[in-house]
Parts: sequence; C-alpha cells; structure tokens
Amino acid sequence: MKEFDKYKSVGLNGDFEILIGSSKTCTICLTEKEVPEIAKKHAVLKRIRDRLFIKDFASKSGTFIDNHRLPKNSWEEIIQQGFKEIKLGNTPIGIDAQLFRGRPRIGIKTTALHYDISGKIVCNGAYIQAQPGSMTAIMGPAGCGKSILLDLINGYRTPNSGKVFAIRDNIPINVHHDYSLVREWLGYLPQDDVMIPELTVYQSLNYCLRLQFTCLNQQIREYIIRQTCQNLGFDQVRLEKFLHTVIGSAESGIRGLSGGERKRANLAHELIAMPLVLLLDEPTSGLSSVDADKIVRLLQKLTQLDDLTTIATIHQPSRDTFERFDNLLLMNYDGTVIYYGSTAQAVPYFEFVTETTNTDRNPAEYLLEILDKSDYNNKLINGIAKEQFKFIMPL
Ligand SMILES: Nc1ncnc2c1ncn2[C@@H]1O[C@H](COP(=O)(O)OP(=O)(O)O)[C@@H](O)[C@H]1O
Ligand SMILES: [Mg+2]
Repeated sequence: MKEFDKYKSVGLNGDFEILIGSSKTCTICLTEKEVPEIAKKHAVLKRIRDRLFIKDFASKSGTFIDNHRLPKNSWEEIIQQGFKEIKLGNTPIGIDAQLFRGRPRIGIKTTALHYDISGKIVCNGAYIQAQPGSMTAIMGPAGCGKSILLDLINGYRTPNSGKVFAIRDNIPINVHHDYSLVREWLGYLPQDDVMIPELTVYQSLNYCLRLQFTCLNQQIREYIIRQTCQNLGFDQVRLEKFLHTVIGSAESGIRGLSGGERKRANLAHELIAMPLVLLLDEPTSGLSSVDADKIVRLLQKLTQLDDLTTIATIHQPSRDTFERFDNLLLMNYDGTVIYYGSTAQAVPYFEFVTETTNTDRNPAEYLLEILDKSDYNNKLINGIAKEQFKFIMPL
C-alpha cells in the first residue's frame, strides 16, 4: 500500500481541499510509476471541520472505496471506521487517521462565577470543569439559575466576577474575551427553539448550512443534512417524512412536527454546524420519559464518538437517563452549588450527609426532594464544607 506521507507536508490544520493527480499543479502530485493510470486531476479530498469527503474527477481508472467505484464528480464521505480500502485505479492508498480530525477537542473550565440581575444574585459561585468526551448534567429546582449558568458559559452573559475558559491543547481561551474565536466551537440549544414555522425541516437546515458554510456545495449540504438526521435516529422512510414536514408552531397556527420531532429538529440545527461543545437547555423538557431517554442516549453516543464536551440542564430525568451523565452539578434555590461530582457518587453522598436512604427511588427525585426540605439546609452546607471533597471525583 502506498502511504500518503505527502499529506503530512500539506499542513493539516482546519478545513482543506487537496487535489490529487499527476499534474504539477496538484497538492499531491503522483507519478505514473507510483499510481499507474493516474489522471492529471484524479480526485480531490475535502475536509470540513471533522468530516472528510472525496470526489473523483471523471478519471479513466476511477476512485474506489471498498471496490465501489465513486460516481463521477460527486462527493462521498469517507467515514473513519466505515471503510477498509481506498484505491486510485488499482492502487490502494493509506488515509492517515489525523486526516479525519480537523480540530483539537475543546474542554470547558470556569472559576467560581457570580452574577446578579438588578441586584438579585442568580449565580453564586457555580463552576464547571468538563472534559471532552464527558456529559455533565445541571440540575436544581426551577428558578435556581441553571439557564443563567449556561448563558454565562456560552458567552451570552458576562459574569460580574469569575472567568469561563475553552481549553484547547491545554491552553485556556477566555470565552468572553475571545468570543469570535470560540463561538464556532460552541453549540447552544435554547430551551425554546427559534425555528421558522413556515419552513420544512429540510429547508430550514439547508438555510442554516448556507449561512454558516458559504463554500459548501448543495450535494455536500444535502449529505450532511441527511446524515445528521439519521444520527438522530430516523430510518430512511421516517427521515423523508421528517425532512419534508413543515416545522409549524402553536402560535402560527401551522400544524407541523410533534414534540419529540421538534426537539430533534432543533438539535439537528446545532449538530449540522459540528460543534465541539454542546450546551443544551432542557433538551428533554416536554417529552415522555421514553423520548427523553432516546435523546440523551443519542447525546451520549455523539459525545463519546466525537469527543464532545456536553453540558445539559435537565429536569426530572428517569434513572436510566440520569445515569447516562458522567457528572452532576446540583444547584440550590439561591444559585449556589450543593453538589458537583460524579453522578454515581451523588446519591451515596446525600445519603451520608442527610442520614437518609434512597433505596430504589429515582435518584433525581430523591435529590430534588432533599433540596426542598429546609431542615436539611444546615446539614448540606456543613456537608459541603466537611465532606464533599471525600466524594467529589477528580475532574
Ligand atoms: N431576564 C431576567 N430578568 C430578571 N430576572 C431573571 C431574568 N432571567 C432570569 N431571571 C431570574 O433568575 C433566576 C434564575 O433563572 P433561570 O436561570 O432561568 O432558572 P432555571 O434554573 O429555572 O433555569 C430566576 O429567579 C429568574 O427569575
Ligand atoms: Mg431554565
């Protein structure tokens, strides 16, 4: 097999388009000896964020993925674990693993954040340290400041004190100072979506891609839309129906998507931009526990597969859904943190501090009930001071 070491000299940060052929003008210039029957302009490799596409330029000997000859002049995605061999004519070529990952992963780290609205403290020392590949749940009673905390992390609001950093290659980048750099990495799903009810899902996603990536051609856009929605759990038949349904809304009087479909359409708008950090405000609200778990399972899959940093506020998750999160940030009514550590240790910690037992109940319900009982307040505050560090996992 011919290893394409020549790629390494091309400079592989960010998006690229690499022309392969025998012509001197190609980025990768190959001789007839190296690849018999190579065309002057044979094929082109294109990377958009973390996705790699290939196109054959109507070459005589063709370009093949696992012996399937690519149609002429049409883009096909190369999926890292999805192929065995790529050939130019009869010559196999090696595709370096680093070609599939266009960007370093991004973690999130904050110092203690403080924020008030007209003098009322709504964030009182909350902080987050989230690694790529991890899922963090933010829970707490209604009005405790979960959405505000997400807004502070995503750069929409600036804390009165405290800092938010995106961590890239171990270098902290201040989200509020360098917002223009960081914003491309952040995907934010607001609790109330802002989709245009008159459009079909396909039209809306297509506009969204056109606005964000001016250089993508229609064929790649179409591909990204379909693939993203398939990842969201639609099979071929349901996918067509979903894409061609009008979004609709109660206010506009246009009947459209169901609640679960609407959440997924909303999520698709974020995912097509290929964010590295996913901030989600109640991605499961209004859904049945089965649909809610489907969404969180999907987020878990994407987080692990793409090494995303996922942080979601969540309301009343089922036990299964709760356990899909690696870490839990539990907030109290006054915008303070009452627990921040591994999800698995949360119940044992509160059992210890409050001297109660949860037995088989839903962990989320147990935790929120404890916050609701003011007689535990002192115990919890003292518990935080004395005991929490025993339980909190190192992040
Ligand atoms: N724009 C606003 N103006 C005044 N108060 C607000 C505003 N947004 C949120 N708050 C208050 O801040 C607190 C936290 O709100 P929020 O983060 O939305 O809570 P939740 O935990 O339910 O997401 C609440 O008491 C809310 O009333
Ligand atoms: Mg909220």
